[in-house]
Amino acid sequence: MTRKTEVITTETPEKFHAAVELASDLLQAGEVVALPTETVYGLAANAQDAAAVARIYEAKGRPAHNPVIVHVSDLTMARRSASSWPPLADALARRYWPGPLTLVVGRTEAVPDIVTAGGETVGLRQPRHKFFEAVIRRCGFPLAAPSANASNRLSPTIADHVLDQLNGRIPLIVDGGACAVGIESTVVDATGAQPIVLRPGMIGADELAQAWAEDRDQAAAPEVAAAQERGDANAPLRSPGQLSRHYAPTARLLLLRWDHSADLSAQLREREIDPAQACLLCFHHDVPSLNWRKSLRLPQNPDQAARDLYASLHQADSAGADWIIAEQPPNTAGWRAITDRLRRAAAS
Ligand code: TXA
Ligand code: MG
Repeated sequence: MTRKTEVITTETPEKFHAAVELASDLLQAGEVVALPTETVYGLAANAQDAAAVARIYEAKGRPAHNPVIVHVSDLTMARRSASSWPPLADALARRYWPGPLTLVVGRTEAVPDIVTAGGETVGLRQPRHKFFEAVIRRCGFPLAAPSANASNRLSPTIADHVLDQLNGRIPLIVDGGACAVGIESTVVDATGAQPIVLRPGMIGADELAQAWAEDRDQAAAPEVAAAQERGDANAPLRSPGQLSRHYAPTARLLLLRWDHSADLSAQLREREIDPAQACLLCFHHDVPSLNWRKSLRLPQNPDQAARDLYASLHQADSAGADWIIAEQPPNTAGWRAITDRLRRAAAS
């Protein structure tokens, strides 16, 4: 299906208001629209309308076994989709919402099967984004929204990324500028005794365990957080949608460590990779002076690096590189989500 995709902006109060009205009208009519959030752009539809949510899957070409996150404007709206609201969910929602945290809890009948991929739980999130919030409030219903990329492609952090992938497949993209966080929310199972991270994000497992402990006036359960930070196979229950290859650029991505230019050069020679066909992505090191097709340096601060990560991978693809050579980020908690995304991008 090809249709005209309109792109509108929100930088003045008038444009903001007009965009809220147009997006809400389309959503109320059962359409799918791309909207900015603080993490990545989302492809939104009425979460209570199974036919509307089916259009999300169609536009993305997404497999139907992957559940979508339900976005709410406040706690009351969240609780209406939850069969129970455990103290753990309540504590984390009060501490981190609005923000880049998705809480998985039991779902009610009001949530269509297509949203949960037939499962008994639902992922809920209140985004920290004025425009997205205004749209939910005007609609009066929660919005189901996966990232606004074609299935298995890179998540979009600017409106142009969405247009590149979904032009002609959706009626509207609202351009709210670059996303502040830059990678997808932390997804947490909040149905048990401790928070369990299903998908790492910029709110780390240790921070969540600490917040939950403080809420109960107890010491944190450090072994849970530590196991999750190490990525122990038995610690996290995998999210159903966590396919190993995901968040992938078109170029092949290699995660490497090196000491100096000659060392990196030797590693590339061994793999028969010509730097002229590669885009280098550095986090810490200065850029080794090989004959790169393109070289990009990301900030040394993980919050800032996360914000720029996907845009850099998109740039590497646009430069026509066959390879992306990414420096292995530091092995510390703050970099865990970025390392997770790079590993998924590297899986083939
Ligand atoms: O930041 C984000 O989370 C963005 C913005 C748009 O909110 N959304 C996003 O959605 O990344 P998506 O569909 O690309 O990824 C949702 C992830 C998937 O890994 C999915 O498996 C997991 O959340 N998920 C959703 N509902 C779940 C549930 N009930 N149980 C376990 N995992 C769930
Ligand atoms: Mg996604």
